[in-house]
This record gives sequence, structure tokens and C-alpha cells, in this order.
Amino acid sequence: MRHHERVSFGSRLGAILAAAGSAVGLGNIWRFPFEAGNHGGAAFILIYLGCVFIFGLPIMISEFIIGRHSKASTGRAYAVLAPGTPWKWVGYLGVLTGFLILGYYSVVSGWTLEYIFQAATGGFSGKTPDEFVAMFNDFSKDPLRPLLWLFVFMGLTHFVIVKGVKSGIEKSSKIMMPLLFVLIILLAVCSIMLPGAGKGIEFLLKPDFSKVTSDVFLGAMGQAFFSLSLGMGCLSTYASYFSKDIRLGHTAMSVGLIDTCVSVLAGLVIFPAAFSVGIQPDAGPSLIFITLPNVFQQAFGNIPALAYICAVAFYVLLALAALTSTISLHEVATAFLHEKFQFSRGKAARLISCLCLLIGIVASLSLGDWSEYRIASLTIFDALDFLTAKIMLPFGGMLAAIFVGWFLNRKIVRDEVTNNGRIKAPYYSLFLFILKFVAPIGISFIFINELGWLG
Ligand code: PHE
Repeated sequence: MRHHERVSFGSRLGAILAAAGSAVGLGNIWRFPFEAGNHGGAAFILIYLGCVFIFGLPIMISEFIIGRHSKASTGRAYAVLAPGTPWKWVGYLGVLTGFLILGYYSVVSGWTLEYIFQAATGGFSGKTPDEFVAMFNDFSKDPLRPLLWLFVFMGLTHFVIVKGVKSGIEKSSKIMMPLLFVLIILLAVCSIMLPGAGKGIEFLLKPDFSKVTSDVFLGAMGQAFFSLSLGMGCLSTYASYFSKDIRLGHTAMSVGLIDTCVSVLAGLVIFPAAFSVGIQPDAGPSLIFITLPNVFQQAFGNIPALAYICAVAFYVLLALAALTSTISLHEVATAFLHEKFQFSRGKAARLISCLCLLIGIVASLSLGDWSEYRIASLTIFDALDFLTAKIMLPFGGMLAAIFVGWFLNRKIVRDEVTNNGRIKAPYYSLFLFILKFVAPIGISFIFINELGWLG
């Protein structure tokens, strides 16, 4: 078996950073705030945290076990661990899910490039909140401009995939992640200090349980899977490059913590600012592209140079965070074609990039000229997001839990979490209990409730 060239994580930090690089992305800064906004704020966040702990972390450890033990990318891992069984379809489902996510995720990634361009060329200066709303609407509905940036972003992803990720991504993650963290804390402080920000903080911290319906649960669960890159084998593909001494439980905790902190901080940036400038918290996918430029303008309005630097830096970091996620999505599909059909890496990557571009073009146009084409009243963009994040990822995650909880040899599971008995895993019994019962029953329950709503 030829092994495709990719990051090989030498250190524990490298493994954590690579996995965190996949997890932290637009899901945290773009998707989390609008999902929280659509589902009532604080109550959603509490349920989200529950989903991260109850489903997210155990399923992340399961994916690590599957990847590290099989030493194969997700498209092949189940076939290696359970040869001759239908489990291989779970791997294929993961590849398909990642591929669909990459299609529409690249569209939003492209938007970040437009906003770097606008920020860098002074496009934010002197604009009022209403003008920022108009700016975003004009841009996202334009038939050409978003497509241009989509091509550029897919080109960047393609370039990194073909050149090999290696230490480039690992090294840049080490600089980029702390920087993103510092900048987002700084922005949260600025946002909280804007006049009228109190309502936003209240929205974020004071739960209103009257807003909790079954679609809040589905939204929170989908967001947890999406944000942690779970349910499609992305992290199991990365774990196939983990060395034997990496502590799986510890790594999952670290990734979960980093990811959750970035999401909550993003909420603290967006909502106080949104309330301050009078933008509805449920504005949807446009939320960060409207409130953030406002924060820069209003918070640093009298120091234009600072407003300029912060705006450019923020969108550059956002684009980089998106890039580490698109790379991980692209890698799963490329590695699959490379391993399964013996395509060269270059050919596999070209095919995936072209097909994803097609999906991206349709998703992008569905927000403008093609908005009348709907699937169950959703635009194609929203339908792709709904199908992948709220259905396919939780379903894939549930199958991974059942696989490790019920089918995988118990000795393999124990050896993996204890590094062959060298470390303790006090969470082991609870972990198994969650995989065997809590995750499958809980996820099915949320699905059944929501399907009732759909019907
Ligand atoms: N977790 C990424 C984010 O939050 C998105 C992603 C989903 C990446 C699934 C890989 C797999 O932006």
C-alpha cells in the first residue's frame, strides 16, 4: 500500500494543533453565531455545550481510535477494521459528506477574501451600519464576484493539498491559532464596550427556555458535529498519523476546549455589536459580515489606522482558519480517490477541486440569481448546510460510536485509550457507556423528534 504524503505529526502539540486547525474555522466564527442567533442565544449555547460533552468528545475519541488503529484514511479505515462487512459504507458516507461540505464552505471562505480586499482597500471606512448591510447583500447576490473569490480560495486549497501539507500547516498553525485567539479576545472586549452592548450579552448569557424546541436540539447537535469536524472521518484521517504515545482522551479534550472557547468568544464579539448597531441577531449567514465591519468602525473610529489593521488582520486570520479546515475536508476525499482507485494525488486533487467548484458555483448562485430554486423551502446553499451538518454528520458520528462501542474488539479500544496500558484512562467505562447507549439513543431521539417536525 502506497502511503500518500501528508502531515506526519511528530509531537503531541503538532497533533493537537492539526486537529484544532481542522476544527476551528468558519464553523466557530461564522456558523456558531448565526445558529445561536436563530435559536434564541443562551439556551442554544447550553444545549450546544451538552452536545459537545455528551456526544462530541466520546465520538472524537472513537474517530481517533478508528484512525490510529487502522492507519488508514476514513474511506478505507472501516474496511480495514471490519473487512467484508457493510461498515465500509460508513467510510464512503464520510467522504461524500466532506465533499458536499467543502462545496458550500468554500463559498463562505471566498467571502472572507472579498472582505480582506475591502478592508485592505479602505472599503469599510466611513460606512454606516445600513451601508454595511447593503454592501454584503450586493456582494453575495452578485453573479460573478463571489464566484471569482470561490475560484481563488479553491485554488489555494488545491495548491496546499498538491504540494503536501507537511510542516507548513503545522508551523503556521502554531503562529496563527494564538494570534486568532488574541485578536478575538481583543475584539470581544471592544464589542462589549460599545454603547447598548448589554442586551447582546444578556442574549448570550441569559437562557430563555421557552425558545427551546426540537429544532434547537437538532441545531445544537449539528453545530457540535460541524464545529468539531466530527461525523465524516476527518479527525480519524488525521489520527491515522498519530504516533503511539499520543494520548487520545487528552487530545480530544484539548481540541474540544479550544474549539468551544473560540465559538463562545465569537459570540461575545458578534452579539453585543449586533445589538449595539441594531442588527437582528437572527440575520443568518450574513451576520459576521455585517456586524464585524461595524465593530471595527465604531470601536476604533477615531484611530483609523487601528481600525484598518484590526480589520485586515481579522479577515486574514479568518481566511487562514477557513483554509486549515478546507484542507482537512479536501484531504479526506483526495486520499480516498488516491488509495481506492490508485489515482495519483495530483489527479485525485484536481477531480475533487473541479467537482467541488461545481457545487460551490451552484451554492453561491442560489443566494442570488438562482434563489427561486428551492428544496423544501430552503435555498440550495441552506439545503446543503442542513443536509450535511444536521443530518449526515450526526448520522456518521452515531455510526462511529456504534462501531467502536459494539463492534470493535474491546481489547483494541482499551489499548488505544490507554496507549497499550501505559497511561490511565479513568473515563473508560463512562466512555463505553456513552458510545453504546447514550450517543445512539440520544442522536436517534433528536432525529425522530425533528423528523416529526419536518413531516
Ligand atoms: N470544523 C470546521 C469549522 O468549524 C468545519 C469542518 C467540518 C471541517 C467537518 C472538517 C470537517 O469550520
